[in-house]
Amino acid sequence: MRVGYVQFAPEFGEVRRNLDRVGELLAHGRADLWVLPELFSTGYQFRSVGELSELAEPVPEGPTTTRLVALAREGGFHLAAGIAEKADGRLYNSAVLVGPHGLVARYRKVHLFYEERNLFAPGDLPFSIAQVGGAKVGLLVCYDHLFPEAARTLALLGADLIAHPANLVMPGLGQLTMRVRALENRVFTVTANRIGTEARTGEALRFTGLSQVVAPNGDVLLQAPQDREEARAVEIDPARARDKRLTRLNDVLADRRPEFYHLA
Ligand code: ACM
Repeated sequence: MRVGYVQFAPEFGEVRRNLDRVGELLAHGRADLWVLPELFSTGYQFRSVGELSELAEPVPEGPTTTRLVALAREGGFHLAAGIAEKADGRLYNSAVLVGPHGLVARYRKVHLFYEERNLFAPGDLPFSIAQVGGAKVGLLVCYDHLFPEAARTLALLGADLIAHPANLVMPGLGQLTMRVRALENRVFTVTANRIGTEARTGEALRFTGLSQVVAPNGDVLLQAPQDREEARAVEIDPARARDKRLTRLNDVLADRRPEFYHLA
């Protein structure tokens, strides 16, 4: 199975242009599962709830999910991507997983970052996994990376791979924690981060690139540069993520002692 990321610089509000750019980048690579950044079709820095509401879309009827499904059908692959979702009058920072036959899974970002808290409703769907070819895939969005409980929940549900659309702005942080999330759960992770800068609210945000694919032992199998667009993929064996042994006598999921954990 080949998995990869699409790292690029979305232009704020230019949905058609951003979808076209993803299509161009995908034409140069080959994968079974591609991961795109958080909010890849709209850009990130909304000035108001009103502006977000104008750009947010119903899923799967909206133009972004419709185009993703068309790309998946043409290319015979799956795509995981961040999207501004409008549902029942609420706005979510969501991720969709689509394949050639349509929407496969939807996730609404549980841990909202910084000004997102003033724009989006917090996610209200349970973590879940979906089958993509030979792999079970779970979704997280950006800042979810800092909550080990989120990745652990996906691992306990049986995820082989965590697809992680991101708009990371704190240099090196999410790239580091996703290596730890991979190794502590013995799963693959694919983080697709964006590049470029947005300064629409008087505060400049610089997105840090360095998209990556990480193996269940924490090794970085692929990493993008900080400042260049690219779509790249690597061959993985999802079965590697089903071996949770660290040593002959240790299995990182079976060794858990949940009776000692205070999670509420
Ligand atoms: C983030 O959650 N966009 C850092």
